[in-house]
Amino acid sequence: MKVVVAPGDGIGPEVIAPAVDVLKIFHPEWEYSQVYLGYECWKRTGDPLSQTTRSALKEADLILFGAITTPPDPAYKSVILTIRKELDLYANLRPVFGAGFDILIVRENTEGLYSGIEWQEKDRACTIRLVTEEGSRRIARFASSCARRRRRHLTIGNKANILKSDVFFVRICQEEAEKIGVSVDKKYIDALVLDVLQHPERYDVIVTTNIFGDILSDAAAYLEGGLGMLPSANIGKDHALFEPVHGSAPDIAGKGIANPIAAIRCISLLLKYAQERENAKIVEAAIQKVLADGVKTPDLGGKAGTKEVGEAVIKEIIRIREIPEPDL
Ligand code: IPM
Ligand code: MG
Repeated sequence: MKVVVAPGDGIGPEVIAPAVDVLKIFHPEWEYSQVYLGYECWKRTGDPLSQTTRSALKEADLILFGAITTPPDPAYKSVILTIRKELDLYANLRPVFGAGFDILIVRENTEGLYSGIEWQEKDRACTIRLVTEEGSRRIARFASSCARRRRRHLTIGNKANILKSDVFFVRICQEEAEKIGVSVDKKYIDALVLDVLQHPERYDVIVTTNIFGDILSDAAAYLEGGLGMLPSANIGKDHALFEPVHGSAPDIAGKGIANPIAAIRCISLLLKYAQERENAKIVEAAIQKVLADGVKTPDLGGKAGTKEVGEAVIKEIIRIREIPEPDL
């Protein structure tokens, strides 16, 4: 397997380092390489995403992405959005789980308000929210297939009371869910965000359009103690990229206090994607143990640094792997 690591900038490199160490415990034999991209890279070279980097990403079997800063400058095109589009990573999976709840947010990742069809005029600006049949069917199929392997229920997050594009999206999601055989309910996104926070146990898989998924996942991070906890997988037909949901957090970059759990959980997602469910479980079990032992970064109320948490998780993974399998 070819793994390409893109640490990015801000806290990206700090949190990706222990994540790579975790993956190497399971797969020292895989081929690892690094690419440089993003804001810092742009400042240094004038290009945030070079042709060499683009081809390396295209050739990778698995991509591990840290975080990058996106300045609100109309001349700067978001690198992660470009990658999601170019590699057609249409499904953005954002699992959120804890005591008594286990939710999988499936965010459409290539269109909606992020279609890139927008312009500015002198006295107004316009962004088109494009929802296509193909885009909706494939994300609906993906989410429904996930639900089929879980509790067989799909919630469609939408704003169809206001947006015609969501009337369309909801109809297609319902059709695909029916074909795959999972039950469905529809919920307006504003009410859904609140209900997920108040009654997370009610939800299994939630499918929604791009920006709603973006907002919902940040809000849902509250259930786990904050953004430092949530991993995500960006999946396409031919490529897969794993990245923590949090951004580059420039305010704490370089201080050694960023929470590496989201990045390490990306390894758990990556291993699941690689059909290594047992290994994925080991990573998660190790994380749970380390948190239960109180080894936490300041965002979770602890005093540990990034390195300390990373090392504790690695130690725990090694310990779990050394426990002999029962000879039955
Ligand atoms: C995310 C981020 C990105 C998004 C930004 C950085 C482009 O917020 O992955 O949630 O909006 O998708
Ligand atoms: Mg976001």
